[in-house]
Amino acid sequence: MGAETTFRAIVIDKTTDADGHDTQGAALRVVDDTFLMPGDVTIAVEYSSLNFKDGMAVSGKPGVARVWPLIAGIDLAGVVESSADSRWTPGDEVILNGSGIGENHHGGFAERARVSGAALVRRPTGISAAQSAAIGTAGFTAMLAMLALERGGVTPGSGDVLVTGAAGGLGSVAIAVLSAHGYRVVASTGRVDELGDYLRELGAADVIERDTFGEPGKPLQSQRWAGAIDSVGSVTLANVLAQTQYGGVVASCGLAQGADLPTTVVPFILRAVSLIGINSVEAPLSLREEAWRRLATDLDLGLLDGMTTMIPLEGVLAAAGDILDGKLHGRTVVDVRA
Ligand SMILES: NC(=O)c1ccc[n+]([C@@H]2O[C@H](COP(=O)([O-])OP(=O)(O)OC[C@H]3O[C@@H](n4cnc5c(N)ncnc54)[C@H](OP(=O)(O)O)[C@@H]3O)[C@@H](O)[C@H]2O)c1
Repeated sequence: MGAETTFRAIVIDKTTDADGHDTQGAALRVVDDTFLMPGDVTIAVEYSSLNFKDGMAVSGKPGVARVWPLIAGIDLAGVVESSADSRWTPGDEVILNGSGIGENHHGGFAERARVSGAALVRRPTGISAAQSAAIGTAGFTAMLAMLALERGGVTPGSGDVLVTGAAGGLGSVAIAVLSAHGYRVVASTGRVDELGDYLRELGAADVIERDTFGEPGKPLQSQRWAGAIDSVGSVTLANVLAQTQYGGVVASCGLAQGADLPTTVVPFILRAVSLIGINSVEAPLSLREEAWRRLATDLDLGLLDGMTTMIPLEGVLAAAGDILDGKLHGRTVVDVRA
């Protein structure tokens, strides 16, 4: 194996101690092409991004990594080096979000990747590789959620749209694309003082304290939202459903507060509220391509650049804890070659 095939990667491994307890840890390692998993497209990775899920995996939390050792990173942007998939040829600029990378297949926190060509999307003209990573799974999911609101009949004239987990990656992109599309957006955050101006610059018309959703409430409350994009789950989502107006649509994307949902059927049967699940990982190719087409037209790249922080590959090890602790905001891009 020649030296040119070695590359750096953030690798998650699992060890089992004498008592049978599993510990998962991540480290920056130098590996070579024999480490890669089977796939029909080999990619020179340029950028990845740090998502909440990556924070969990790299911090040793269970539920994301399902095979070990595993290169972490649920996103990648790069250039095709070789391909046995007729859709792709060397030099093509591609994006991959989810589809199992960073979970059961080696992911984007590495200088090289070998993946299935089936879920790759061609990088839209006008969006740089770094910007496509800045959008990443969080931004792609925000667009899937906006598409779900549109399909549910929520228009800018329907009323206010709430975004919870507003200062996070998914929330930040959701605010930008919704407001660009003419929706009046209300941002719910735990960081009103620190990040209120940031959220208004993204396009939020109002910024409210997330604590207002934090305690269990009545199953029906005053009707405030025509739609909502929720990253938070748990009691917050239950209260959002209770405040959604007749016929409104809520897109459930995440579980930053918790995976539980302590609600009743009342908002559904008395207010005809729709709760739509969003799954970016297994989104079919046609939906991936539609979402990326819409991101290319609807997302202001200046706003995207303003919400983006760039870190080198090794920086992932410290930033993983920070995203779980709610210390980051917007999107964190990983320059895997730095
Ligand atoms: N369904 C999918 O396919 C999909 C795709 C991407 C992400 N997700 C999920 O969506 C969520 C957001 O992902 P992300 O990458 O945007 O993460 P992120 O950047 O860490 O954003 C999460 C935000 O949630 C808020 N938050 C955190 N802890 C909270 C708590 N205990 N109670 C209430 N709010 C809390 C914070 O916003 P404020 O500081 O503004 O309060 C935080 O910035 C995660 O649960 C992730 O797993 C799902």
